[in-house]
Amino acid sequence: MLRPYAIKGKKQKNRGENFQLLNSDDHANFLQKNNNNPADYRPDITHQALLSILDIVYVRTEKGVLFEVKPHVRIPRTYKRFSGIILQLIQKLNITAVGKCENVLRVIKNPVTNYFPVNSRKIGGFSYSSDKLVKMRKYVDVVGDDVNLIFVVGAMVHGKIELDYIDDFIAISGYPLSAAMCIARITEALADKWSIL
Ligand SMILES: C[S@@+](CC[C@H](N)C(=O)[O-])C[C@H]1O[C@@H](n2cnc3c(N)ncnc32)[C@H](O)[C@@H]1O
Repeated sequence: MLRPYAIKGKKQKNRGENFQLLNSDDHANFLQKNNNNPADYRPDITHQALLSILDIVYVRTEKGVLFEVKPHVRIPRTYKRFSGIILQLIQKLNITAVGKCENVLRVIKNPVTNYFPVNSRKIGGFSYSSDKLVKMRKYVDVVGDDVNLIFVVGAMVHGKIELDYIDDFIAISGYPLSAAMCIARITEALADKWSIL
């Protein structure tokens, strides 16, 4: 989940529109002037989170735009280059890898549940305020290898994810963690379970 990826246009002489990905660091004044809460504009959280995942990821913006991130995409290491790619995605609706014709990032139709594999368990509403506090390693241990695990983590500062397709709402720590830290805990638990070094 992701808070809105809004863009603002600024006319540049002879160069058309110059779009920017709104974020709380660079555009706090602009956002406040337009009655938006800068804390709701944190695409950097998604950037950090994507850097730590090697599997397929679906990102849904606050406004309901859904995009798919393929496992072999090379997410830009710096935020500046990441925002450039996301802006291209917003405008072109897909991004292909250099020298290849396959889309590595593409906007897709809702609902996200259409893309889930059969026999999947949707775990999320990942939130430190969930009543069910679990140790991630123990939690994934009891799941059969035939079950596809889908984790739903919030890439935002405030708020809880409440979606009707979630099977289990869990907290993995008694403390609020960053989305990237949550993902690190999930991937570490799974790597340990499957002895991936
Ligand atoms: C910066 S946190 C947002 C904090 C949010 N107020 C909350 O309730 O967790 C980003 C995301 O990390 C996940 N998260 C943070 N702490 C967690 C915890 N202790 N257990 C499970 N998920 C957590 C949630 O999915 C959350 O949306």
